[in-house]
Amino acid sequence: MSRRFSKVGVVGLGTMGAGIVEVFARNGLEVVGVERDDESVLRGRGHVQASTDRAVRRGKLAPEEQEAIFGRIRFTAEIDDLKDAELVVEAVPEKLELKREVFARLESITQPDTLLATNTSSLSVTEISVATGRPSRVVGMHFFNPAPVLRLVEVIGTVVTDHKALEEAKEFVVGLGKVPVVVGDKAGFIANALLFGYLNHAASMFETRYAGREDIDDAMRLGCGLPMGPLALLDLIGLDTSYEILDTMYRQSRDRLHAPSPILKQMVTAGLLGRKTGRGFYTYDRPDSPVVVPDAHTPTVTDPHEGARPVRKVGVVGSGTMATGIAEVFARAGYDTVYVARGDEKVARVRSAVERSLDKAVMRDKITAHASDEALANLTGTSRLDDLADRDLVVEAVVEELSVKQALFATLDEIVPAGAVLATTTSSLSVIEVAAATGRSADIVGLHFFNPAQVMQLVEVVSTVNTAPDVEATALAVCERLGKHAVTCTDRAGFIVNALLFPYLNDAVRMLQANYASADDIDTAMKVGCGYPMGPFELLDVVGLDVALAIQTTLYREFREPGFAPAPLLEHLVTAGYLGRKAGRGFRVYEQ
Ligand SMILES: NC(=O)c1ccc[n+]([C@@H]2O[C@H](COP(=O)([O-])OP(=O)(O)OC[C@H]3O[C@@H](n4cnc5c(N)ncnc54)[C@H](O)[C@@H]3O)[C@@H](O)[C@H]2O)c1
Repeated sequence: MSRRFSKVGVVGLGTMGAGIVEVFARNGLEVVGVERDDESVLRGRGHVQASTDRAVRRGKLAPEEQEAIFGRIRFTAEIDDLKDAELVVEAVPEKLELKREVFARLESITQPDTLLATNTSSLSVTEISVATGRPSRVVGMHFFNPAPVLRLVEVIGTVVTDHKALEEAKEFVVGLGKVPVVVGDKAGFIANALLFGYLNHAASMFETRYAGREDIDDAMRLGCGLPMGPLALLDLIGLDTSYEILDTMYRQSRDRLHAPSPILKQMVTAGLLGRKTGRGFYTYDRPDSPVVVPDAHTPTVTDPHEGARPVRKVGVVGSGTMATGIAEVFARAGYDTVYVARGDEKVARVRSAVERSLDKAVMRDKITAHASDEALANLTGTSRLDDLADRDLVVEAVVEELSVKQALFATLDEIVPAGAVLATTTSSLSVIEVAAATGRSADIVGLHFFNPAQVMQLVEVVSTVNTAPDVEATALAVCERLGKHAVTCTDRAGFIVNALLFPYLNDAVRMLQANYASADDIDTAMKVGCGYPMGPFELLDVVGLDVALAIQTTLYREFREPGFAPAPLLEHLVTAGYLGRKAGRGFRVYEQ
């Protein structure tokens, strides 16, 4: 039976430390919370007050419980008050020297068997531990932000950590009602190592004005179901902390993708640290507030669809999953919709797929039977491209092959009337290469729907160097009528979502291949630590490993980033035919 802790301490009561104090006190432990001076003590106490006040307001915490929580916490500026603590978690800023000083001090005041833990996100736990004379009693205990909410705790053992200490740490975490994942001492551990490359990439998308702040965040929330967008998350984590984490990761990996995006350094220097200072990528109504207020970057409310061309009649080309879904979306929104499939059999198949989907929507009370009838009345199938001769907008969703799409656009160029808008729903090809097959590339735009199109709210509207402003405005107006959320970006491989998503998935494969953690632990870390709806390996198996490899290869070819090179393990699994759920085996094996 391993040891039960009842008296614990936390050093540093900032974003993380205050949350950790709350977690401990909520679990009935006696906590000593240490800050560097009286003013910081008050601020730290204020964090716990604000967080528990919020819980009381929301009815999640009884006022008496809140009082009891505060009864168990002693806030102090005297680190010596930790002398009786059986376990201490350090959560001071992400600076190695500072942490080493704190640990040296902790060693001198605590008992020899006190378990010492650092909440570092990226620094070497080993280097921190050897600042004490008893590194075997030092572990990493990496909580996630906000600590009272997120259940993952990465427990880090170094080469000198005593096995017993690691077990104690793990059991302690379980006792808090949290989920521990035990890993070795590598910068970023599991979750941050996978998260920060992605956050950094999003920051540089913003910095290079590839897409706007809200569009980047909305794309990842709506396109991937993430609980928050990357820039909002950077603000929550703190840009200073984020900078330090990336800097440490870069020093260890030498991967350019971890080199902090220059804008992070500039913002930190300017004191724009995120929520904690009231301003980061977004502006908040006051420091430490989650409430975003408009600022100079907030999109203006002038009509974004000014100059949009009128669209009444729509054509959809293709008969696969995407084309079928898109045709249904248009028909449901009241557009006169003609879809073109190759051959009568495919025409009939699309129609019955739409009928089934509409029936399901009626059964689930998503639409009325009348709306379903109307949608079907709006939908006409044909096998002749010539039937698109009167369309105002044609959306192509045929196979993802450049030559096929180019040939189709060249034909559409001959058939579809002047002034119509032509859209491709490609997810990885360059829109301008498709557009160049026509004599009217100004009329061509990317409309990247997500699967299933009926359900997913996001559409990426992709303008090429030639897309006319009124064509983009038309695409935006159409998305609005479809009830979709449009984000705009330019014509670069992966647009917003795939460019941010697939390198992260690829990094997860590399981490697995390096035997740093198991697929289960990695999936758990991202779901429980970051609130992702699926872990990377679950998602890869759903998306299809071949699809992931193709997208990652496109990104690698376009950006020539060594860090984007597809992970060899991904290539090997594809070669072996382990393509994911559809093949019955990918990273995991499925019952057929
Ligand atoms: N922010 C996150 O999302 C997050 C998540 C997990 C882990 N972490 C890690 O947690 C640690 C703390 O990060 P944070 O975001 O809470 O930083 P923060 O800047 O919000 O808080 C750090 C606190 O430490 C205090 N402090 C500084 N020197 C001190 C000392 N000598 N003694 C006592 N207190 C001292 C500061 O006054 C400040 O209140 C870092 O190692 C960070 O990498 C952060």
